[in-house]
Amino acid sequence: MFDSNAAVYKRTAGSSAIELGERSAERARFLADVVSGLSRAGQKELPCHYLYDDLGSALFEAITLLPEYGLTRADERLLERHARALLPHLGGLPLVSELGSGSGRKTRHVLCALREMAGDRALTYAPIDISQAALEQCEKELAPFARVIPLRGSYLDGVAQASRLREPGQPLLVLFLGSTIGNFARQPAKDFLTSLRGHLVPGDVLLLGVDLLKTIDQMLLAYDDPTGVTAAFNLNLLGRINRALEGDFNLRRFRHQARYNPLERRVEMHLESLADQEVVIGAAELRIRFHAGETLFTESSYKYTAQEIAELAATAGFRCTEQWIDSEWPFAESVCIAC
Ligand code: AVJ
Repeated sequence: MFDSNAAVYKRTAGSSAIELGERSAERARFLADVVSGLSRAGQKELPCHYLYDDLGSALFEAITLLPEYGLTRADERLLERHARALLPHLGGLPLVSELGSGSGRKTRHVLCALREMAGDRALTYAPIDISQAALEQCEKELAPFARVIPLRGSYLDGVAQASRLREPGQPLLVLFLGSTIGNFARQPAKDFLTSLRGHLVPGDVLLLGVDLLKTIDQMLLAYDDPTGVTAAFNLNLLGRINRALEGDFNLRRFRHQARYNPLERRVEMHLESLADQEVVIGAAELRIRFHAGETLFTESSYKYTAQEIAELAATAGFRCTEQWIDSEWPFAESVCIAC
């Protein structure tokens, strides 16, 4: 009773005081991260999740269509071809949850495979995302295939909630696709999967999609496409600071850069200052100096071998029982069973 009232309250609150409060808290956090990331003495840096405002998310969608960026298509091909192979690993019809609300296109293949198992029982899908807009989009796309219960918040809070939504004895299938894990440094990726495992019970399944190491040329081209879409995606971060925090970045005085770091085995995105310049962040009354050639480090995409993914899963308390690898674009889908 209490719970359902709370749900109604959240739904009808719409864009009232509560949402405004949330938005101003998000802005305050963005401001704090911009101040600490840009005013430090060494490498300037910002958390990569700030790349995804409405425009950034639209530009990322465009990236997934680029011929040079094969990652998303490989992920989708693998799910389309192999999703049915999940069935024997599941001890019954699972509750499906997804970290990030993903694109309905990919997830649909998994839900369709499970519907064969569901018969006339309801299939429940609980996507987790911090973006309300992304959740709404996902709900619209996947409602024909499952009962959708959007969970707004952090991945780990969401998994804890999803775990409580299951019927007694029902397994949980967690989807973590698109190589989002690649944005974590290697140790934090282990820590994250270990925490995730802490919310699961033995027999629950994690389906983990990770981009694999490939030639340096192929990796650099994927993150520096000649059409300039990735450059726009990266530069939009400066535009977002201008819009949300009264910044005065001149986007024409910065250039997108993709680097391969062979020691860390990651692709890095940077924004390089083309001149000695000062930028003002109005909302913080802060003046930031860039010298010519200095960069703002905006994203890491770590690349793995299939073997490393199995080891990563094992450290976190999973047994990797199966991997599907795309033949066109090195990318692996790993079936990881909670031990
Ligand atoms: C969505 C995080 C997997 O790292 O490949 C694409 C984001 N950045 N092009 C990735 C991204 C630049 C993407 N992930």
